[in-house]
Amino acid sequence: MPNVVIVGTQWGDEGKGKIVDFLTQHADIIVRFQGGPNAGHTVVVGEKQTILHQIPSGILQPGKKCVIGNGVVIDIETLMKEIEEVRSQGYFKDDTALLISENAHLIMPYHKKIDISREKMKGKDKLGTTGRGIGPAYEDKVGRSGIRVIDIFDDDLFRNKLEDNLKEKNFYLQNYLNEEAFNTEEIFQQFSKYRDKIKNYICNTFLFLHESLNENKRILFEGAQGTMLDVDHGTYPFVTSSNTISAQASIGSGIGPKHLDAIVGISKAYTTRVGAGPFPTEQDNDTGNYLRDKGAEYGATTGRPRRCGWFDLVTVRHSIQINSITHLALTKLDVLSRLKTIKVCTGYKYMDEVLSGFPTDFSVLEKCTPVYDEVEGWDEDISSITRLKDMPEAAKNYIEYIENATGIPVIMVSVGSRRNQIITIKDPFET
Ligand code: GDP
Ligand code: IMO
Ligand code: MG
Repeated sequence: MPNVVIVGTQWGDEGKGKIVDFLTQHADIIVRFQGGPNAGHTVVVGEKQTILHQIPSGILQPGKKCVIGNGVVIDIETLMKEIEEVRSQGYFKDDTALLISENAHLIMPYHKKIDISREKMKGKDKLGTTGRGIGPAYEDKVGRSGIRVIDIFDDDLFRNKLEDNLKEKNFYLQNYLNEEAFNTEEIFQQFSKYRDKIKNYICNTFLFLHESLNENKRILFEGAQGTMLDVDHGTYPFVTSSNTISAQASIGSGIGPKHLDAIVGISKAYTTRVGAGPFPTEQDNDTGNYLRDKGAEYGATTGRPRRCGWFDLVTVRHSIQINSITHLALTKLDVLSRLKTIKVCTGYKYMDEVLSGFPTDFSVLEKCTPVYDEVEGWDEDISSITRLKDMPEAAKNYIEYIENATGIPVIMVSVGSRRNQIITIKDPFET
């Protein structure tokens, strides 16, 4: 039985949550494998909108198991709030639907403080992080001083680790960032309370996933952020602090790569980016404003306006290679209705040359100008179309254009934020 990985092919917010929610009907288990509460995955069912930050988007469908894997960094305080919110909307009635990896790392209060304070100090040179403590938490993980979920269940170990960490953190906070120090005992007490609330969800998720594979269960991996925000393959340093690409589905869950059968890349029909960093096809003009207004492009986690621009084949092709993408899902095609012509970036011009790949050298990327193709637009509102054959010719041509230019089949087209506003061409679990 195939297992499917969902990844963003751009700079995040491609509509991954919506596609994961939709595909959950075909899956048994939905796994988050990296990132943390920097993610904001929106699912709209009827009139009800839910934004998932740490809980997998599969939680809205009963009878599924949702796993927060070892590769995620978890903020327990905000996770508790998220659980309450999801419950208040009538979802997640069965406590056994959520499983949290015991060796996932924790975002501690000092991580959030350091993240926010560093950004403040950088001023105009800030990265534009979500302020959720993601970078500092992953730094400690890689630096081997991080605190893992399982650690808070051992009083002595937890207190010792906390004390050790706070020696360094408090020095840095007070002497470099001009912030107040944290108190070991306060954090210890705070986490003792959380411990009781989350203990029922904690387990060895890697074992659970392997047992499930043996039972031929279908796993849907839910990527967060996007390929261009990957710490290795994105627009470094304007990236997040995790690997966001398909290979991380293995690392962040403990399931080897041979079990990843289909890799579905989610691409918005145009491009957006929130936070600082290069964005070659950005339209800081009326077109960009039009896309922002019509696409309601405001961050699901921070509410910040998203920068908007044209579809960029250079970044999407880069993503296809890095992720081994087998299928594409095109989202927000409805937003392009009424545009006379639609531009697509086919290459980056640097000096007098058109580059064939995505440049890793930041100074080159900064000097690149996009080369555009123009595609005919369509006037019709397509948001209630459910079959490809009912699409206006020009919209079908746009989809075909992307398929031809990438060499990857588009298997889903989303035409609105609601669960049922989608055209399915092929089910990735059946390929
Ligand atoms: P994610 O982080 O990739 O899950 O994406 P976000 O939830 O941050 O942002 C996508 C936004 O677009 C959300 O507000 C969705 O409700 C909305 N959305 C998703 N698909 C479509 C679509 O096909 N058309 C329109 N108009 N909105 C969509
Ligand atoms: P989803 O999963 C869009 C961006 C931030 C910032 C950079 C680093 O909803 O697509 P961080 O807080 O991770 O250290 O910030 O990454 N960023 C996202 N942009 N969608 C996201 O997640 C993002 N998560 C982080 O805006 O530029
Ligand atoms: Mg988002």
